[in-house]
Amino acid sequence: MKKIYFMTFLLSLVMITASLAQDNKIIINADQELSTISRHIYGHFAEHLGDGIYGGIWVGENSTIPNTNGFRTDVLEALKHLEVPNIRWPGGCFADEYNWMDGIGPQSERPKRLNTHWGMVLEDNSFGTHEFLNFTEMIGAEPVIAMNVGSGTPREMQQWIEYVNFDGDSELANLRRENGRQEPWGVKYIGIGNESWGCGGNMSPEYYSALYRRFATYVRNYSGNSIYRIASGFSDARYAWTETVMEHAANMMDGISLHYYTIAGESWNHKGTSIDFGEDLYFSGLRKALWLDEYIKGHITRMDKFDPRKRVALVVDEWGIWTDPLLGTNPGFLQQQNSLRDALIAAISLDIMNKHSDRVRMANIAQMVNVLQAVILTEGDKMVKTPTYHVFDLYRVHFDTKLLQSHTEITNYKYGDEEIPAISITASKSESGRLNLTVSNLDPHNSRAVEIEIRGQNVARVRSGKLLTANEMDAVNTFDNPDHVVLMDFYDQELNGNTLTLTLPSKSVVMVTIQ
Ligand code: AHR
Repeated sequence: MKKIYFMTFLLSLVMITASLAQDNKIIINADQELSTISRHIYGHFAEHLGDGIYGGIWVGENSTIPNTNGFRTDVLEALKHLEVPNIRWPGGCFADEYNWMDGIGPQSERPKRLNTHWGMVLEDNSFGTHEFLNFTEMIGAEPVIAMNVGSGTPREMQQWIEYVNFDGDSELANLRRENGRQEPWGVKYIGIGNESWGCGGNMSPEYYSALYRRFATYVRNYSGNSIYRIASGFSDARYAWTETVMEHAANMMDGISLHYYTIAGESWNHKGTSIDFGEDLYFSGLRKALWLDEYIKGHITRMDKFDPRKRVALVVDEWGIWTDPLLGTNPGFLQQQNSLRDALIAAISLDIMNKHSDRVRMANIAQMVNVLQAVILTEGDKMVKTPTYHVFDLYRVHFDTKLLQSHTEITNYKYGDEEIPAISITASKSESGRLNLTVSNLDPHNSRAVEIEIRGQNVARVRSGKLLTANEMDAVNTFDNPDHVVLMDFYDQELNGNTLTLTLPSKSVVMVTIQ
């Protein structure tokens, strides 16, 4: 009898050890600071698309939905909490069809246009330049304006910039004053075209480079403001575009963009569902999100050829998971749910961009509210923060910190014949000396222990810990159950000298700070 008990005891020990997968080891060299992780990596994107602006941010002053000067108060508060560093607007594909003059002056007199790219719906232009720039001011974000290169002219672009940035006595600056804004906004970030190889004009890289130089010439600095010019880059692994545009126009830009959308399904025609999915779509979503690392490296290699000193930033100004639209919604509105899987996709994408922060100095999740991998969903007067929102909340600790050199020995998470690293991490150091760790366990079945040895700095105590997880890999927050996936306190940590062991629950993101 005793023997049976002993065998059972041994067996359970073996099982616990296996399910904890103890052999994840990370060495962090706290005295080896690498690049600065710019807070602008944590930017957002808001396009005139579906309910992204209307209903999601802007309801107008006469709405019964609680609002502050027409902006949803609940959304304003949620975004303020995230300390959103920048918002890119008005598109996307919409940007290259937009005439900024349609969106100024009394709202009732603004022309109604068709949003030809996104569902042919009526655009009443009640959300225009003043509304967008006032909104960014209210939440403390920097505006990023994507200019119309596809169907617009350099003159329209130049005049728009004068309108928002000139503080002297000119017709355009005075028009701004007549429209209610005395001081210029001092817009710094300007995108020159969007996907100019596709919806932004179907251009060749040679043609775009020449056009870019022409437009960039007329991006003037007014009233002491120095503009940061971002060229339209390609998506995924289309490196030839980056190479040509860098060759011909690098000297006239501060950044070039990259777009990467994670498609968990087999193709753009079958992107996969955002709800009620199994491990196949969970695994493939994570696996494909990890491709961002390869793509960033590929574009950086081409940029290095013409800009070895890394003056020009790689701006990942559209990223996130793109799924099939929710059943019963307008397919042109790109509405999808947002699950725990998507939160993990956000975490690993942010880890990848942090790792390349010597070149990636700005990024924008697509999109902010109600569209694609949104951090916020709204319906009427209801609002929910998605699991992705909570990842952005956790990752604020990395804003403007130093990326730390680290060495990892990570076990894999296997599914079928394929495998990916089970653990993803960002380690950074704040100016105060605080160490910030965000660590994710992608394994949906097993908790994993991670042993983190900190070298080059004495560790006194673990200051705080937060955890994001749920029982189901496709767990979502709904309007009826908005707090299903939320942040919790995290205690599963053990500090032994300078070695910290974290036990991460399956499919989780953990943040700890150490002093
Ligand atoms: O984010 C949706 C669309 O995706 C954007 O408008 C476009 O730039 C990209 O193709």
